[in-house]
Amino acid sequence: MAGNKSLKAAVRAKEDEFYTQLTDIEKELRHYKQHFRGKTILCNCDDPFESNFFKYFVLNFNRLGIKKLIATCYSGSPIANQQLSLFDVLGSGEENANKPYKAIVTQVYDQTGDGGVDMLDVAELFKNGVNELVELTGDGDFRSEECLALMDESDIVVTNPPFSLFREYVSTLLEHNKHFIIIGSQNAITYKEFFPLLMQNKVWLGYGNGDMSFRVPEYFEARETRFWVDEDGQKWRSLGNIAWFTNLDIRKRHEEMILVRRYNISEYPGYDNYDAIEVSKTADIPCDFTGVMGVPITFMYKYNPDQFEIVGLVNGKDYLAGIKTTKNYKDYEETRQNGTKTGSGGGKINGNPVLRGKPKSGNYFVLNDEVVHSTYARIFIRNKHPEEVNK
Ligand SMILES: C[S@@+](CC[C@H](N)C(=O)[O-])C[C@H]1O[C@@H](n2cnc3c(N)ncnc32)[C@H](O)[C@@H]1O
Repeated sequence: MAGNKSLKAAVRAKEDEFYTQLTDIEKELRHYKQHFRGKTILCNCDDPFESNFFKYFVLNFNRLGIKKLIATCYSGSPIANQQLSLFDVLGSGEENANKPYKAIVTQVYDQTGDGGVDMLDVAELFKNGVNELVELTGDGDFRSEECLALMDESDIVVTNPPFSLFREYVSTLLEHNKHFIIIGSQNAITYKEFFPLLMQNKVWLGYGNGDMSFRVPEYFEARETRFWVDEDGQKWRSLGNIAWFTNLDIRKRHEEMILVRRYNISEYPGYDNYDAIEVSKTADIPCDFTGVMGVPITFMYKYNPDQFEIVGLVNGKDYLAGIKTTKNYKDYEETRQNGTKTGSGGGKINGNPVLRGKPKSGNYFVLNDEVVHSTYARIFIRNKHPEEVNK
């Protein structure tokens, strides 16, 4: 890698170090229990002695009926092998520091004889060779040959992957035909590489969403918001737009949204440049509208493919998926609500739909007849079984 590029990659990698809490993992994974029995689970961005994904699966190994658990960690991770417990297993010493390992677990039982199974038993079972903990030959990159071979051996991949490599991570999973449960940013919904997967029902959203707190390494700098240090000196960051993504079937996906509103022209204005109505809150989707509706991206948390069809997405300049605007504006501009151009995006072409007439919500700003802006991305959907229109 050229100097500048590798530096950028290193900076990005450092910003990827958000460690997921066990409680968040438990809250999500309880919905997938039926999928784990007899399966090989891979956590491929996970230091076995730091990651709570590894901890969750190893401590629930027998209860979930898992066949094999594999975890690999990345040498670029600042916490790789920094924990005493791993040195305990490997024998402490410089030679073991910052090396990527793979952990392969096929049996979990009370080895220490204290009547329960905990991480000490797991460490002992590595030490005495019942399970395997060996150094990887490469750096533990999920794209490396040896890690891809482990992926091919696994049935389900479960982790919080590096945020900066999310697109590549997902495409690797799909190329290798894997089932998965992963954490990502809600913004991924609108990525041009990712949205088509949602639209084609190849991936969907899991249960948890919104705010999540993560442990972060010592080198993370203090910030005014969404950052704190706990009584043990551990640094934390929270993120407000976290989502779980999966391609495993879950009950939620088959639950129908109960629609209580009915369409009327004054409450559901149409767009000027696309034949659809604006529904600014998912809960307000009218039960009887037969045409296309523009909804916020958070609709995806409620999406049931038997109830709705997704016809497209418009997300600013980025992407027009499946959408042909009925009017070809020359002068879309990214503007603030008050009409001034935004710093980075000002003046760029923007294909978002625009409300007809004067919007009352203020979500959309119309500068003049030809220069228009919408602030929010919209997903376009159609109800597959609209109720009959009241006459
Ligand atoms: C968001 S953190 C999550 C860590 C852990 N999975 C968890 O949930 O606590 C992403 C992890 O991926 C690791 N990572 C970064 N680049 C990677 C790569 N190319 N291959 C594998 N892991 C990588 C980082 O070091 C980091 O520990």
